[in-house]
Amino acid sequence: MVAISAASSGWFAVARTAEVGTTPVPVGAGGRGYVVVRLSPGGEVSAFPARCPHRAVPLAAATVTGGRLECPRHGWRFDADGRCVAAPSLGPAGVPPPRADLPVPWAVEERHGWVWLAPDRTTAAVPARSAGLPRPEAVPPPQGPRGPVFGNLDPSLPAAWHPVALSAELRPGGWLQVRLLGRTWTLRRDDAGLRVEPPAFAARERQGVIELAPEEPADVPLDVPEATDRRFLSRWLAPRRTAAPAAVVADLLLDVARLPFVHAATTGAADHPEVPPYEVVRDPGGFTSVQEQWCDDPLDPEVALGGRPLRQRRRVTYAYRAPFRLRMRRDQLDSGSTTTVLTLLQPEDADSTRVLTRVLLSAGPGHPLPSRGQLAGAVAAEQQALDADLAQLAGTGLAGLPLDRRDELHLPADRLGLAVRDALCDFRMAGRPRLAA
Ligand code: FES
Repeated sequence: MVAISAASSGWFAVARTAEVGTTPVPVGAGGRGYVVVRLSPGGEVSAFPARCPHRAVPLAAATVTGGRLECPRHGWRFDADGRCVAAPSLGPAGVPPPRADLPVPWAVEERHGWVWLAPDRTTAAVPARSAGLPRPEAVPPPQGPRGPVFGNLDPSLPAAWHPVALSAELRPGGWLQVRLLGRTWTLRRDDAGLRVEPPAFAARERQGVIELAPEEPADVPLDVPEATDRRFLSRWLAPRRTAAPAAVVADLLLDVARLPFVHAATTGAADHPEVPPYEVVRDPGGFTSVQEQWCDDPLDPEVALGGRPLRQRRRVTYAYRAPFRLRMRRDQLDSGSTTTVLTLLQPEDADSTRVLTRVLLSAGPGHPLPSRGQLAGAVAAEQQALDADLAQLAGTGLAGLPLDRRDELHLPADRLGLAVRDALCDFRMAGRPRLAA
């Protein structure tokens, strides 16, 4: 047997050569995680760190495109030396910063039917075949950020309104157990109204949602003007659940650079990955941003009739209120229709977030209300989009959203993501005197 030590120096057999093709294979060497992959069919094996430096996406989900490793979230491409050669949100003339490069291991070799990896410089030779049968390490768990994160059990979170159920989930005379901030709460609806056990600071029911504030709430409400606009029809999506923390989900849903990649097959306008400069305006409790985007609009009836192209322009208004309320209004500039998506995130446990989503649809000024079929189509499309987004978070293993900017790499397209981090820091700071009291 070849001795495999826990130290990171020396050579580590990580995979059989026959197992490594153009799909990245996660491996462990010296206690660190890597992926090994061939950047062309039958080509040499290359090795990369397990995560993308941008948003810590596992590179096991990357693909090989044009001899480069391409991250699935925003399409950054890395050559065999780990150099980031493309960050599409920067546009065709954009040059990725040096920090975008991946720190690849010192060497990779194929010997005796195995892939060998030396994480750090070594004077040792690859062990001879006579040394025995190699025994690869287990793939180590993903390493989290070094700095603070905002997780689902953050001490500031009790001082806010949180969604705990859709109104339709609690029948008259019925009861429902829900999870919030690591605790179980029982909701009852009887003749006296809505009751909560154990007692919370307050509970309420508004616009189809039951909300609970464990302590005196300090968050700022998020208006949804479309909810009282008679030109809109609305429906709630079936709630979804993810293991990702709510702050990570919010960050993803506000991530404009992901659209041409994560939603390339539906609305994402894959051939427009550049993100033009945009403004983020700070509001009490959060922020607003208005920007224009290219998109595909397969739900526009005129597209099927040939009256309008599939590729269209839209104006998107993002509004966010800490801790976890988002409103995204999409005004289609060609058809005049508007879709607003309200997302409320319920931080159930450290590793569980429930996602409540409401779709509000209008055909636009001067048009009749959308048909039931159009609303059903919009709901199905949002459900598909949400599922594609949540699939992105599988396996990321983040305990919370990194708040230290040095733990990630931010490009101009990430201004909304930075604003989320700033708003959560402010929310946390606002609760500090009360927490200390
Ligand atoms: S390109 Fe990898 S997370 Fe953004």
